[in-house]
Amino acid sequence: MKSLAVFCSGVGSNFEALCEAAEKNKLGARITVMVSDDPGAFALKRAAKHGIPAVVLSPKLFKTREDYEKVVVQLLKSQKVDLVALAGFMRIFSSYFIRAFRGRIVNIHPSYLPAFKGAHAIRDAFEAGVKETGVTVHLVNEKVDSGKILDQEKVKISPRDTLADLEKRIHAVEHKLYPKTLRSYLKQLK
Ligand code: GRF
Repeated sequence: MKSLAVFCSGVGSNFEALCEAAEKNKLGARITVMVSDDPGAFALKRAAKHGIPAVVLSPKLFKTREDYEKVVVQLLKSQKVDLVALAGFMRIFSSYFIRAFRGRIVNIHPSYLPAFKGAHAIRDAFEAGVKETGVTVHLVNEKVDSGKILDQEKVKISPRDTLADLEKRIHAVEHKLYPKTLRSYLKQLK
């Protein structure tokens, strides 16, 4: 069984969807660790609920980003992690981390990339008045929200939608697309 690490900074609803898929043997991996950069992240409560070991690593405790990432890499290697899934992790990795796990870091982004990159993708699409946006699962490389796309799904925006409606619809798509895409990507990984 492959080993998956999930990284979260906040609510962790995607992490929860991954836990549920793993519990039903639908992920093709064990979630061996959840890593958070924020001791206040609600995702930590979800980890406890699902019996997933969680580690809080606060970048504030390290002098440089590379010092921080060295500890993260050591942790992942010690857990023999095959794949890292970012799920609302609000930090940008340096090339040191990307090099250590090249092709093995996946992110979920709430837009139909390459449209609406960045931290406010749902709101940006809503405010732009476009008719559709979406969800993308992609590999992480040195450039933000620009790695190879593994899968993506469109989400329609109706003129009657509030931002909250759209957020809800996008998250529902994410919770299905992320486990499905990770499962098929994990199958290809050596
Ligand atoms: C999701 O919309 C994801 O696409 C983005 O951050 C959000 C995380 O939500 N990267 P949650 O913490 O999984 O609920």
